[in-house]
Amino acid sequence: MAKFIPVEPFNIVIFGGTGDLSKRKLLPALFHRFLDGQISSDSRIVGSARSKLTRDEFQNIARDACRNASEERLTNANWEDFANLLHYQSLNATELGDAWGELSSKLSNVAERPTIFYLATSPNLYVQTCESIKQANLVHARSRVVLEKPIGTDLESARLINSGVGAVFDERQIYRIDHYLGKESVQNLLVLRFANTMFEPLWSRTSIDNVQISVAESLGVAGRAGYYDQSGALRDMVQNHLLQLLCLTAMEPPNTLSDDNIRTEKLKVLTALKPITAQDAPHKTVRGQYRANTVEGEDLAGYQEELGEENPSNTETFVALKAEIGNWRWAGVPFYLRTGKRMSARYSEIVIQFKTAPHEMFGNAGLTAGNKLVIRLQPDEGVRLFVQIKEPGPGGLRIKLLPLNLSYAENFMVRYPDAYERLLMDIVRGNLSLFMRREEVEAAWKWADGLLQAWEDSNTPLSNYLAGTDGPATSEQMLARDGRTWSSEIE
Ligand code: BG6
Repeated sequence: MAKFIPVEPFNIVIFGGTGDLSKRKLLPALFHRFLDGQISSDSRIVGSARSKLTRDEFQNIARDACRNASEERLTNANWEDFANLLHYQSLNATELGDAWGELSSKLSNVAERPTIFYLATSPNLYVQTCESIKQANLVHARSRVVLEKPIGTDLESARLINSGVGAVFDERQIYRIDHYLGKESVQNLLVLRFANTMFEPLWSRTSIDNVQISVAESLGVAGRAGYYDQSGALRDMVQNHLLQLLCLTAMEPPNTLSDDNIRTEKLKVLTALKPITAQDAPHKTVRGQYRANTVEGEDLAGYQEELGEENPSNTETFVALKAEIGNWRWAGVPFYLRTGKRMSARYSEIVIQFKTAPHEMFGNAGLTAGNKLVIRLQPDEGVRLFVQIKEPGPGGLRIKLLPLNLSYAENFMVRYPDAYERLLMDIVRGNLSLFMRREEVEAAWKWADGLLQAWEDSNTPLSNYLAGTDGPATSEQMLARDGRTWSSEIE
């Protein structure tokens, strides 16, 4: 049975409190933690935004948000209890004024208890908001600030944000969120690698042929097209989520699970990533954009239609690339990454493809590929280890690659907490392990900036793919040139 350990009473101020992230993720996450008894009723949750709302109006917004996220758990009684924690403060976060005093009076024991300032706003407001928090005398030893991604749009803007926020808060008070690190199955990656003895001896170029990390989404960008068109898949997904998955897959075992040990090992991977140059870009990367398609009678709009602009957009909604890690363990092992919007299904997985047997003993019995370990992050979380076995029956020896299947759903009858639930509780506890240190974010930007520049210099074109499919043909061709294929167990 899952056991939730209560956290001490805390204050949290959500800047952007009526925005999309707050409604879809943060408020429901706090509600679930409250229902499971982890948050006590003397904690304070203050939504803050520019709009003039009464406390009741904010509570109604929060109620709708929690109902949308979890109809089955919300009752009139438990909602009343949770609503008591909710307050609202209308505020322009970048300007000083009386509103800050009003905000302060809605918090409790700011100097003694964890007080969290969650910046769920546009990143270009981060620095000014932190300066306002300081001028309002709300920064104390136990204050924490949470920065949502994207932290900037390139290395330079990330540095400016990190320096500006760092001038107000110490590095150990800054929680840079990458919500992929809060997913159960991502944390399990560490356990799988380092609590089992059978994988680690094989976890290197000696036994592994290649690694594939895929994060596919079935949704398009409708509703967020304005932001997305300025960003694209490389900045939106690869620079953060996919690189973090790559780090956890490739890093050396940390000496301990202390936040700094884990983060130092991840940083070493990021700094060992080989830059992708303009010469490499055309054959080591693919940029794609989805076009309208009809799938099983359903019309799926193309990116350009969702964007609603006449001028053709050059923003990539799909990226595939071959990353290489320049270190002893991984020399010569490609890490193929791909991510895209409007693909055939929503799935994320890491595939460790082992080498084929070095000596051919079985003739043409069907042994074609090596073993593979598939770590399914979502949906249907689980781990499958594909092994070669003999097909039963007479008529000659036939070999098949079949999975030993560890499905989480079949083994654990628990509700899976959303990534934000764990991350929010870690912030209250002051546990930084699942948050990125400044150098990590900057190293990831440095590599991503190099690739963006390489695309520009080499004029890497966009490949089209039909909405509802698995990306452009050029992505298959990229692997085919290396004599490989994307491995996918998606049904
Ligand atoms: C966000 C991206 O960080 O992650 C979105 O900005 C993306 O574009 C989302 O849809 C995917 O998260 P998840 O948890 O649904 O895989």
